[in-house]
Amino acid sequence: MIVKHLRVKNWRNFQSIDTALQERQFLVGPNASGKSNFLDIFRFLRDVAKTEGGGMQKALKDRGGLSKIRCFAARKDPEVSIEIELAKDAESPTIWIYAIGIKQENKGTRNSYLSYEKVTQNGKLILERPNTEDKKDPQRLTQTFLEQIGFNAEFRPMAKFLQSINYLHLVPQLLRYADRIQGRIIEDDPFGQSFLERIAKTPEKTRRARLKKIEEALKIAVPQLQQLEFMRDSNGKPHLQATYQHWRPKAGLQKEDQFSDGTLRLIAFIWSLLEGDSPLLLEEPELSLNSGIVAQLAPLMYKAQRVKGRQLIISTHSEALLSDGGIDGAEVLMLVPKTEGTKTILASDDADVRNLLSQGFGMSEVVLDSIKPEMVSKVSQLTLF
Ligand SMILES: Nc1ncnc2c1ncn2[C@@H]1O[C@H](COP(=O)(O)OP(=O)(O)OP(=O)(O)O)[C@@H](O)[C@H]1O
Ligand SMILES: [Mg+2]
Repeated sequence: MIVKHLRVKNWRNFQSIDTALQERQFLVGPNASGKSNFLDIFRFLRDVAKTEGGGMQKALKDRGGLSKIRCFAARKDPEVSIEIELAKDAESPTIWIYAIGIKQENKGTRNSYLSYEKVTQNGKLILERPNTEDKKDPQRLTQTFLEQIGFNAEFRPMAKFLQSINYLHLVPQLLRYADRIQGRIIEDDPFGQSFLERIAKTPEKTRRARLKKIEEALKIAVPQLQQLEFMRDSNGKPHLQATYQHWRPKAGLQKEDQFSDGTLRLIAFIWSLLEGDSPLLLEEPELSLNSGIVAQLAPLMYKAQRVKGRQLIISTHSEALLSDGGIDGAEVLMLVPKTEGTKTILASDDADVRNLLSQGFGMSEVVLDSIKPEMVSKVSQLTLF
């Protein structure tokens, strides 16, 4: 299943979003245009849908409250709303629609509450709140039915789908220095701090098969690398270990704390692609990687998507990533900052982009160029010295 359409109002730097989404969707835009905020819409829904240790209040609190989320540019309208359409794939008819509106009491404790919650299944409305009980007891509107097992039975598959959303933004330093930092691991581990534990928990056969595939890919990206293995040290701690071609015999064995940033990120990226069939949100997978390798990421994502039928939503700044000839205009969502908030437009819906593509220009040059003009004049002033 995928999210095939998204409608949002007043979410952070977006006053409104109304866009179709593909199985593989790239988000492209200048710094602070809202790519991470866009991904956070899906993480928010996941957090709301969590029946254990989650829910709407927790999801709001983790983000500093509704006042932090609500678009600063939204003057009169106090409501934040999200609506998603779920379908088997981008071409199939919509199965589920989930929609919520959230407001904040304007006096007293300023609690956040649902202005509405709706679920539609195959065109039939199966939940509409506030219902009579909600009206009798407005406290009930501080929780969604989505997050409550006792109330979500009729749309459990949709709740499960939302709970399964994954996010990856591996920060190599956090993984490498995990012991020394001894920091708190953030819930759901967005930055890959316990990535090694995840590998360790995977059944051995699957783990071996995945690491073998990763090793094949790594041999191309890191030609000196010969073998990648999982091991536990004398304290039982999980590690990745690689053999490198080296001029001194036996000197080539290294653990993950010595891997390069790009090696670690590529390992985590491929592992995540191979793991599971639920939606995967990827932040700038190109980071630390050579552009030759980055150019191969889009086809890899395409294959992973096709095999598993899962949705991948990817933020990127990379020309190399978008240079793949197989990327369709509908797969690229351009985020264009405006004074009243960021606008989103699919590359396939933009007349200028379409025109240039039909003239044979590549997706990367056309798209990155079309989001650039507003930056360019300022960037050219960036002369610190
Ligand atoms: N409630 C809000 N209303 C308006 N703008 C907001 C709100 N919350 C955050 N922002 C703005 O959103 C911007 C950050 O967006 P985000 O981090 O999603 O950008 P990005 O496209 O991921 O950038 P980068 O490429 O640098 O990672 C910041 O400029 C921040 O001020
Ligand atoms: Mg970002």
